[in-house]
Amino acid sequence: MIKRYVFGTPLETDAVLNKPAACRDKPPYLGKCENALIYKMDEEDIVYGLGENVRGMNKRGWIYESNCTDDPVHLEETKSLYGAHNFILVSGKKQFGLFLDTPGKVVFDIGYTNSSQLKIILEDGDYELYLIDGGTPDDIITWFRELIGSSYLPPKWAFGFGQSRWSYASSKEVRQVAARYRENHIPLDSIYLDIDYMERYKDFTIDREAFPDFEQLVEDMKQQGIHLIPIIDGGVKIEDGYDVYEEGVKNGFFCKDEDGDDFVVGVWPGKCHFPDMLDEKARAWFGDKYKFLLDKGIEGFWNDMNEPAIFYSEKRLKKVFEKLEEYRKMNLDVNTFFEFQDLVSTISKNPEDYRSFYHTYKGKRIRHDKVHNLFGYFMTRSAGEAFERLEPDKRILMFSRASYIGMHRYGGIWTGDNKSWWSHILLNLKMMPSLNMCGFLYSGADIGGFGADATQDLVMRWMALGIFMPLMRDHSARGTRRQEAYAFEDIEAFRGIIGLRYRLLPYLYSEFMKAALKNEMYARPLGFVWPEDRIARRVEDQLLIGESIMIAPVYEQNAVGRTVYLPEEMKLLRFHGQEVTEQRVLPAGHHFLEIPLEEVVLFIRKGCLLPLASGGENVEQVDWNQLKLYGFAEKGDSYELYDDDGVSPHVILEENLRRIVLK
Ligand code: GLC
Repeated sequence: MIKRYVFGTPLETDAVLNKPAACRDKPPYLGKCENALIYKMDEEDIVYGLGENVRGMNKRGWIYESNCTDDPVHLEETKSLYGAHNFILVSGKKQFGLFLDTPGKVVFDIGYTNSSQLKIILEDGDYELYLIDGGTPDDIITWFRELIGSSYLPPKWAFGFGQSRWSYASSKEVRQVAARYRENHIPLDSIYLDIDYMERYKDFTIDREAFPDFEQLVEDMKQQGIHLIPIIDGGVKIEDGYDVYEEGVKNGFFCKDEDGDDFVVGVWPGKCHFPDMLDEKARAWFGDKYKFLLDKGIEGFWNDMNEPAIFYSEKRLKKVFEKLEEYRKMNLDVNTFFEFQDLVSTISKNPEDYRSFYHTYKGKRIRHDKVHNLFGYFMTRSAGEAFERLEPDKRILMFSRASYIGMHRYGGIWTGDNKSWWSHILLNLKMMPSLNMCGFLYSGADIGGFGADATQDLVMRWMALGIFMPLMRDHSARGTRRQEAYAFEDIEAFRGIIGLRYRLLPYLYSEFMKAALKNEMYARPLGFVWPEDRIARRVEDQLLIGESIMIAPVYEQNAVGRTVYLPEEMKLLRFHGQEVTEQRVLPAGHHFLEIPLEEVVLFIRKGCLLPLASGGENVEQVDWNQLKLYGFAEKGDSYELYDDDGVSPHVILEENLRRIVLK
């Protein structure tokens, strides 16, 4: 059951598609005090949700913010990442979901100030609250997802492995990356183009010196079964003669400052304007710009810097330089020294800057901070709506860094600038179900870590998790150690693990599409399936992927294996590379399993089947008709496989299901 409550006069976010009539009574369970909602948590309650954020699947014991933030250091003490996903699910004696629909900042104090109190503090007193209850956690998620609309569907090839780096700087380098993958027979479906493919970091341009043969490159890569995926940034460079800049200025499509002038910020290209993604006309104009690349044979994009990231504003730079002059003359003591030291870091993403520019939203002028969390969402919406106009018969790959609930209809997300840290493998795992709850099914982390230097064992262990993520991409930052699968000693092991992804594809795609089309979870916490099992409810390092399997990756350096908890009897399937080397039924309980670096284990649930293809070096080569069934099942048990042409955006679940029976 879904109930909607309206407080004040909220701004529309377009997150919810079919709004139920507003209730006049007070919401049950919750207390209200000023701009906060309060719930007294039972000791056994688990609080799931919040999509992209730090810490556990169970969010208890920390304070989080929904405030899209460009922060490349994801620590335990971090409060907000790139997305703002105001959905939580309380699971205990009472079970209910809450969605706070407001485009401004929201704080979720989940037992931080007071260990048994959940307090939701809204910066803006005008908001809508959706309360969903009367079912299991799975029911609540499905009802919530029906409310917010179906998740974005990527093309089938986007389930292949992608290689990225900031940046492959020339056509030649891209060709080399492709060649290294192909000559080593490590499967690959896409190579990402980071900002250096552009001319001076200008959206919708190509650096013709570095990429003189861009169109030919796209074509040649396609011949090798590889898609090129360019990045698009949220800011438009100020440069005379640059068409996007000039059209934006002429038509008033950029965000304005207090004086009504186009707001100036510094991002990658230097001084930029932000297209007013919230304004319908500007949004349609920006969306149409993707045509420049679609016309060159491009079939996928990643949208970046759309929190929006602000390195500096012109005004702040001036203030900071003036202040520095003051410090120059001072005798810096304990107080002033640290102020001085911190001053330069206040230039970036300064809250004052976010309060100093304006949008035209639904016909009204609105200050940015009031609608901050919508920028990335509406940038991706601008692309998504354009793709519907420009490529109505094709799925275009799209994922974004910043997001708000509602954006899940237009694209997936990647979880931003993580690091080559072991703890970030686990963070990746924990975030997946929370993202799924909010409709973000096509998502994944930068495998191997974006910042910092990676080691072979870290990338390998991360890959062993990444093969189960819908978006499987290895990405790293400029200046860090190379971490392509061929960059380390044991290429064979990488070939095996990535190859296994391609054996699993029919199952993973099938489970993804069923989850998307039925508004279900693709990756679930164990507590969803075994709510009565107190141990299972607290497992934070294992996941259920689809209906048949559970995974338990290794995420510690130098570990020879790990302890796995089985809530019930399951069948272990061990892969050495792509080959199944062990099948063994294990009883319920804890087990220590040795898992060498080059191996992957998974667990098949009782009564379930796992179809495996024979693999391929890209998605197109995978033969969906030659599937081998593995299972913890008996003759007559079956699996319902979803498959389709992988490109059509309009699919009907029932027409694409096929039952495979164990003979
Ligand atoms: C941002 C993105 C990262 C990208 C970099 C350069 O930090 O999150 O993925 O590589 O910008 O474009």
